[in-house]
Amino acid sequence: MNILVTGGAGFIGANFVYYELENHPEDRIVCIDALTYAGNLATLDAAIGNPNFRFVKADIADREAVEKLFSEEAFDIVVNFAAESHVDRSIENPELFLKTNIMGTQVLMDACRKFNVPRYHQVSTDEVYGDLPLDRPELFFTEETPIHTSSPYSASKASADLLVLAYYRTFGLPVTISRCSNNYGPYHFPEKLIPLMISRALADQSLPVYGKGDNVRDWLYVEDHCSAIDLIIRNGRVGEVYNIGGHNERTNLEVVKTILSELNKPETLITYVTDRLGHDRRYAIDPTKISGELGWSPKTYFDDGIKKTIRWYLDNRSWWENILSGDYQAYYEKMYGNR
Ligand code: NAD
Ligand code: DAU
Repeated sequence: MNILVTGGAGFIGANFVYYELENHPEDRIVCIDALTYAGNLATLDAAIGNPNFRFVKADIADREAVEKLFSEEAFDIVVNFAAESHVDRSIENPELFLKTNIMGTQVLMDACRKFNVPRYHQVSTDEVYGDLPLDRPELFFTEETPIHTSSPYSASKASADLLVLAYYRTFGLPVTISRCSNNYGPYHFPEKLIPLMISRALADQSLPVYGKGDNVRDWLYVEDHCSAIDLIIRNGRVGEVYNIGGHNERTNLEVVKTILSELNKPETLITYVTDRLGHDRRYAIDPTKISGELGWSPKTYFDDGIKKTIRWYLDNRSWWENILSGDYQAYYEKMYGNR
């Protein structure tokens, strides 16, 4: 099969590229990525020499570029990871989120219609369900939980989901949607909680915890997200939404304290800062549907995954130090400037 992975130079997209190349060596992966601040071609270093892999630098909202690519390749599946993904940035500047996350989705789906692509998969998020109260631990998000967004980021992802379902109903586009909880693991951009805290703790810098640090996230090791998407695109039912999450809930403060303890750093590094506007309190996924229908279950529990993740950041310092210094943004020019 010929699979288009959008946003494959980002955190989850790159992990998915590696997952597919390893688990389905018979398939070909084409990656399209605009290489925004969050895209890092060095992340795909180990894929770039693979004959089953092609990288194309382009914006998913650029209709001409997308149609050119679809006319060159006969795709069997399109998996759309490309997005503006950071909630705090969406609070600073919502516009780009609407362009990439909504318009980009539309351009990709139009291309799927025009070129008769048999499957479009939208990588969505549990944030489309809004949040749950902290004092109701028995509540979880199911696929039937109403959409109820908090941030411009989650509103843009929810809008895209609605558009995807509209293309299914109106045009019969064969779509699936997955809504996953918070991921962590290798290649996570160091603006997000876990890699930010690891990199700052290693430099003995203060660790900015929003509010009281009692917000809860349901952490999933990124490889488990990749295995779930892999099952959905191969065995999932068209027109369906699948929630992905592994019951690994932790408060932010618990996560930060675990990182400090693993790194032998003092808790005095923790600094409480002004809360995020509209800060969602708790996310928690009920994965019954994907487990029952597709036999998916997560392999990595948080206590092991966080150790593996910290080990990865210790062993791959140059990857994140290049990002923090800004050097990674010159990488594409260095690699592709003269081609
Ligand atoms: P990321 O920010 O690390 O990567 C996004 C990638 O998309 C980058 O490589 C960037 O260059 C690329 N991109 C951005 N705008 C683009 C555009 N207009 N055209 C082409 N490429 C573009 O994001 P991530 O954390 O890997 O998230 C990937 C997807 O998974 C997103 O759709 C996100 O909403 C969703 N998701 C993320 C999480 C999480 O915990 N990180 C959880 C659930 C769902
Ligand atoms: O739930 C899935 C979502 O998870 C994805 O859709 C998003 O793309 C992804 O970024 C993530 O969103 P969050 O807002 O939950 O992730 P973030 O790492 O930004 O923050 C996690 C929690 O930590 C959140 O409660 C805010 C808090 N936080 C975050 C940062 C960056 C802090 O307390 N301090 C910080 O410096």
